[in-house]
Amino acid sequence: MSEQAAPGRVSARNVFVHFEGLTAINDVDFVLHRAEILGLIGPNGAGKTTLVNVLTGFQRPAAGRVWLNERETTTWSPHRIARAGLARTFQSVRLFHGLSVLENVEMGAVGCGDGRRAGRRKAYEVMATLALAELADARADALPYGLERRIGIARALATSPAFLLLDEPAAGLNEAEAEDLMHTIASIHRDFGCGVLVIEHNVGLIMGLCDRVQVLDQGQTIAIGTPEEVQRNPAVRNAYLGSA
Ligand SMILES: Nc1ncnc2c1ncn2[C@@H]1O[C@H](COP(=O)(O)OP(=O)(O)OP(=O)(O)O)[C@@H](O)[C@H]1O
Ligand SMILES: [Mg+2]
Repeated sequence: MSEQAAPGRVSARNVFVHFEGLTAINDVDFVLHRAEILGLIGPNGAGKTTLVNVLTGFQRPAAGRVWLNERETTTWSPHRIARAGLARTFQSVRLFHGLSVLENVEMGAVGCGDGRRAGRRKAYEVMATLALAELADARADALPYGLERRIGIARALATSPAFLLLDEPAAGLNEAEAEDLMHTIASIHRDFGCGVLVIEHNVGLIMGLCDRVQVLDQGQTIAIGTPEEVQRNPAVRNAYLGSA
């Protein structure tokens, strides 16, 4: 069985990240199981993106360790981690402008070791799931913002990841588009069998989508549990949900 087909988890223990006197991640543990959709929420600056950067090799932690299944990846490069089955999107869309939708999505597959022919097949499969098939030949930079975000997800998914980490995939979308995207994320989890992490500020969307939710505040985990448990947690209401 290939590594990507294996069940498993992404995990981290006792992670610390410091930026010039600021402790952005302060002793955080993390687990994402292949069989789940995990929400990561918390106020601006809580450390959500930094944690994803640590998991994906973009940020080396000052202390702590990270694993993909049983293999420690703490010192691996982002490219090596991506090839091992951990894909991500970025908070701001990073597309290759001037290229078509198809070429952008294909880039994900080919960049992760697929040949051209297999890459193209994979790209079409992923575009169908993300309702992008009819736009295959459109220039990526000529499309509305909501579609650009879908292309970013499609490109990550084209790498055939075991785990997909989505940093605010619904940012900038209207309510209907955001809700639609959450349904798409649920289908991705179901149809492609990857564990999914979603960072999202709209708590209602997260609660409807996720099996578990982890809440960060000032670099620390203040709650972790089912959506219901987290919503009832007084520390979470205080730090984040407010009167919600
Ligand atoms: N490269 C960096 N250099 C210096 N400080 C940084 C850097 N990246 C993040 N920070 C700081 O670390 C803290 C955590 O940032 P991070 O981007 O992880 O938060 P976040 O939870 O993703 O916030 P948001 O919801 O606004 O995206 C913030 O105080 C941020 O300003
Ligand atoms: Mg962020």
